[in-house]
Amino acid sequence: MKFKYSIIFVICLVITSSCTKKNLLSVSSPDNLIQVLFNNSEDGIYYAVHYKDSLLIKPSKLGFQFKNDGALVNGFEISRFKSTNSNTTWTQVWGENENIVDNFNQLAISLQEKEGLKRQLELVFKVYDDGVGFQYIIPKQKNIDSIHITNELTEFNLIKNHSTWFIPANFESYETLYKNAPLKEVNSANTPITFETSNGNYISIHEANLTNYAGMTLKKSEQDPFSFRANLVPWPNGVKVKAKTPMKTPWRTIQITDKAKKLAASNLILNLNEPNKLKNTSWIKPMKYIGVWWGMHLGTHTWTLGDRHGANTKDTKKYIDFAATHNISGVLVEGWNTGWENWGKRDAFDFVTPYSDFNLEEIAKYATLKNIDFIGHVETGGAAKSFENNFDKIFSLYHNLGIKAVKTGYAGGIQTKGQYHHSQFMVNHYRAVVTQAAKYQIMINAHEPIKPTGIRRTYPNMMTREGTRGMEWNAWSSGNPPEHHTILPFTRGLAGPIDYTPGTFDILYKNAKNRVKWNGLDDGTSRVNTTLAKQLGLFVVLYSPLQMASDLIENYENQPAFKFIEDFATDWGKSEVLNGKIGDYITIVRKDKNSENWFLGSISDENKREFDIELKFLDENKKYNAEVYSDGKTADWKTNPEEIEIYTIEVDSNTTLNLKLAPGGGQAIKFTPIK
Ligand code: NOJ
Ligand code: CA
Repeated sequence: MKFKYSIIFVICLVITSSCTKKNLLSVSSPDNLIQVLFNNSEDGIYYAVHYKDSLLIKPSKLGFQFKNDGALVNGFEISRFKSTNSNTTWTQVWGENENIVDNFNQLAISLQEKEGLKRQLELVFKVYDDGVGFQYIIPKQKNIDSIHITNELTEFNLIKNHSTWFIPANFESYETLYKNAPLKEVNSANTPITFETSNGNYISIHEANLTNYAGMTLKKSEQDPFSFRANLVPWPNGVKVKAKTPMKTPWRTIQITDKAKKLAASNLILNLNEPNKLKNTSWIKPMKYIGVWWGMHLGTHTWTLGDRHGANTKDTKKYIDFAATHNISGVLVEGWNTGWENWGKRDAFDFVTPYSDFNLEEIAKYATLKNIDFIGHVETGGAAKSFENNFDKIFSLYHNLGIKAVKTGYAGGIQTKGQYHHSQFMVNHYRAVVTQAAKYQIMINAHEPIKPTGIRRTYPNMMTREGTRGMEWNAWSSGNPPEHHTILPFTRGLAGPIDYTPGTFDILYKNAKNRVKWNGLDDGTSRVNTTLAKQLGLFVVLYSPLQMASDLIENYENQPAFKFIEDFATDWGKSEVLNGKIGDYITIVRKDKNSENWFLGSISDENKREFDIELKFLDENKKYNAEVYSDGKTADWKTNPEEIEIYTIEVDSNTTLNLKLAPGGGQAIKFTPIK
């Protein structure tokens, strides 16, 4: 295949007149390992991707179909093209790394139809050492004004039966377990979708900067078992995207690496987003938080008013006190406002009226007094329009109470008839929440969100989001298997931070005797499929700038393992993925941005594992105390999940540490320089 395409490419390049040099263009990554070829042929426009001299994506079609106009798909001539390059470094307001290298070669191509309306289309390819991004631009022009896209024709034509990690396409939710299957067996997918080739390369398809456009899912071609086409989430009338010229699509991204750990460290998605637009960011602060939350999922508490109401003034103060004495900055409270008794019905919430046993002002004052951030909660139940109509009321209430972060939620169908969670309508809604919140200096943690596409770079108050099958599923379903967390860093995690909410210590719910079943998926056998040490490892592995310790505070009292969470940092100077195999294990280290401390997290699937880890990342001129939180000798997620060993040893950058992870286990280490 590679041979055939390369031959055509060479022939076109030097000999024939029908595909003159002008119709074939190429651009390579700075390290020359990735090459993108663009071909303007009579029947259409195509791109292809080579990696290390092998074909990775065979010629794949580009273009659009519209509701009222003919397809913008072929009959073009290249009116202009320009190759440029750029190598800069930019600084994140917060993140896994303080500084990000943005080094790419770019090819921008302007096309114009030769006949008829002579419409113009532009394509921009940016090629990095860790992958490719391309974007369509429909410039302002005489013969196109309003655009109703009925199909984006972008293809991703892979060439072999790669091992694939995916969740099936779904226009409403990303909360399913990833499956691993040969590419042939995958009919559709949400992105990111990740492939491992038989010769050990990694590919992941996603999108960056999803702005004023529909979310992209992938649909398998009917003719070719290795090929996907973009399948955008529609408006109720079937149109996918409504726009006006000039319009830009999100970047279609193909991350490409020769190691799984390099994939998990890729910055491609962030690099393809626009720089920070918020002038003042001093109010944006990563933090750890606890919450009046897990009890409702477990069924020991309720969101609604009653005997078991979680969000009452007295108990919330206990959470604030606990946070204040344990180096936790935030306290989330759900169920403080009326409407939960109508959850699932239309416009259930007015968003601002407290229940009679919850004194909002008193709590806000108490939190300020204790230097704790009260995290507000806006569950919409899918009533996005109602939230929009109340933006000012909600955000000004929170702002006036000194509240700096809000968690949002869209549990249930979107109440605007025919709309999906991932449609252009909702993409615009989710963005409006972020920009409106920014006006009130409020950070956002979105649940039931649109997937992350790197917007956090442009609006750094877009902190974290769910968009995955998180901890809550363990409270009321068969839960998340141990393998789940070893897949996330290579799939969903490539897109951006995850509010997974790790940190369950009462793994078997021994202290939750009075659970009342409230969710139909709960067959009464739920538990967390983990060891205790793995819960700590997840703090490092699953990055989130708002990182929740999700268990009830009673379960943290007098627990030596809780010290790791107390000590854990929230903003990072740098991060390094030390090892990883998709679906098996991963080890990550992160350096605190505000100290010389490092944190290591290592996690396994259902198998036990042993690694030798070289501590070369440590400063070579320092000695460190390593506080180790390791699975106990007979720990096992199934039979003995809570056994943990905690000890301190002295290490330096020449030390090799032997890590032993139990089945379904993990390990967490804090490294502190010895003064
Ligand atoms: C689903 C969210 O993921 C969860 O965190 C929240 O507690 C419930 N919805 C209620 O808003
Ligand atoms: Ca959820």
